[in-house]
Amino acid sequence: MHELLVRVRNAGMEFIQPDGEKVRVLSDVNCDIAKADRIVLSGPSGSGKSTLLNILGGLIAPTEGTVTWPALGDQASLQPAKVTYVFQAQSLFPALNVHENVMLPLKLMGNTVGNADAASAILERMQLEGLAGKLPEELSGGQAQRVAMARALVVKPKLVLADEPTGQLDSATAHDFLGRVLEFANESHMALVVATHDKLVAGFMETRWSIEHGRLATPQKLEMEPK
Ligand SMILES: Nc1ncnc2c1ncn2[C@@H]1O[C@H](COP(=O)(O)OP(=O)(O)O)[C@@H](O)[C@H]1O
Ligand SMILES: [Mg+2]
Repeated sequence: MHELLVRVRNAGMEFIQPDGEKVRVLSDVNCDIAKADRIVLSGPSGSGKSTLLNILGGLIAPTEGTVTWPALGDQASLQPAKVTYVFQAQSLFPALNVHENVMLPLKLMGNTVGNADAASAILERMQLEGLAGKLPEELSGGQAQRVAMARALVVKPKLVLADEPTGQLDSATAHDFLGRVLEFANESHMALVVATHDKLVAGFMETRWSIEHGRLATPQKLEMEPK
């Protein structure tokens, strides 16, 4: 079965700045994300990559058009079990150590058993187990990014949305880390959308989307609307 996770139709986004000026970021965006898709979202800085990821995850609503999650349910039920988000900015909780940060989404889901083991297992898979007891302030930027990704993977969501997840990694580390992430995503049949301008990341992904002048180009065929 072809499981459609996200469907975006004729979506547009216009922000109103504090001075009242309107800024159009996206126009007439149409795209689908299906189970286990591997998508890289590229485009110059300021082109709207983060904005589109926010729309795909239901964190913001487009000002025109629609976004639905046919196989996932309504927007309120997406986080943290079905869709997880890796933010571009540092997002770890400063008072929790790495292991506690990674356990957090499991706790938020109401899981009461096996959380510590699950967090240890994903840290080990991502070769981050040496950081388990450290606080976020003791991590380098690149380490914090990898821990944030581990935290997004630990719940085995249907969809991971990652915003510039390798921005602070050197290319050898990024290559190695992405290999681990993709192997884990394959096993769990997760879909993955990575926003980046890093050419290396693009090489790992089967589908390339790009934003230019507010328009999204996708090589994918879109699903027909249900009757
Ligand atoms: N909340 C907001 N209010 C006003 N403008 C915004 C807001 N979020 C993003 N923008 C503007 O939208 C444009 C696209 O931003 P963004 O999606 O962050 O691009 P990218 O991730 O590709 O660098 C930028 O011009 C940015 O200033
Ligand atoms: Mg961005």
